[in-house]
Amino acid sequence: MKKDLLKLLDLSTEEILEILDTADHLKALKKAGTPHPYLAGKTLAMIFEKNSTRTRVSFETGIYQLGGYGVYLSGKDSQIGRSEPAEDTARVLSRYCDGIMVRTFDQEEVETLAKYADIPVINGLTDFCHPCQVLADLMTIREHKGKLEGLKLCYIGDGNNMANSLIVGGLKCGMQVAVACPDDYRPDPSVLEFAKAYPGQFLCTPDVLKAAKDADAVYTDVWASMGQEEEAKQRQAIFAGYQINDTVMHAAHPGALVLHCLPAHRGEEITAEVFEAHAQEVFDEAENRLHAQKAVMYLLMKD
Ligand code: CP
Ligand code: NVA
Repeated sequence: MKKDLLKLLDLSTEEILEILDTADHLKALKKAGTPHPYLAGKTLAMIFEKNSTRTRVSFETGIYQLGGYGVYLSGKDSQIGRSEPAEDTARVLSRYCDGIMVRTFDQEEVETLAKYADIPVINGLTDFCHPCQVLADLMTIREHKGKLEGLKLCYIGDGNNMANSLIVGGLKCGMQVAVACPDDYRPDPSVLEFAKAYPGQFLCTPDVLKAAKDADAVYTDVWASMGQEEEAKQRQAIFAGYQINDTVMHAAHPGALVLHCLPAHRGEEITAEVFEAHAQEVFDEAENRLHAQKAVMYLLMKD
């Protein structure tokens, strides 16, 4: 049976670790200059109904490095933007391609594509989650700290797609996860329900310093996500205290990593000083999108 990557909730710990191990292996091959055309002749359709820099370039470059080809489809200039149903797009693309990557608004659309496609579907971000980003994040933390289990991951900001995926990915990998967000902007109820199965391992609080205390990695994301542009001004006031700055870094463990999925808004969710002091980690994280997604494509599309 074909496998998809729709959300981390669907993956076991073993499956997540298999992706991370494969990503490490593919990264080593790339660094050594060893060709690895494991998906030669295969095509990935890449549907984008939202903007992207990292996701597009890392998927397109990734499938190329694996010997395959990526076809970019934007909502604007394909029939997807003229309301062709996901059920039909899925069945058409299944006749041409070997995998589908999709970035869109509604998680339901990704689930529908997967239901109707005969080929693997990979979620490249929805309003609900961003699994590929979090696989790269976990890879980066493990690379820098040598392990995941027992480390504390702190997320500060909006209880959005990033928060949802970080909670699930972190908890499944044995991390302590603490999320600081305003009461009205907590993560998705289904994710908070999931976290109940990890008593003593999860905290959701409006208190930034409580969440950051002794953290091994501190994470943030924009206050207004794609699709929330009209709320940006209002959100600036609501999230004003939800920033990674020196005070937060003093609360965290000395040597704590700073991670950001990017794009970053300096002076909002992170200060320019903290961002630049931790640029090495943040851009390692961005690089790891490439390796983690190559691992996902390889594992899902190889047969
Ligand atoms: N982090 C991330 O997904 O970046 P893009 O929006 O540029 O793809
Ligand atoms: N929460 C952000 C993540 C961007 C990678 C958004 O959805 O716009």
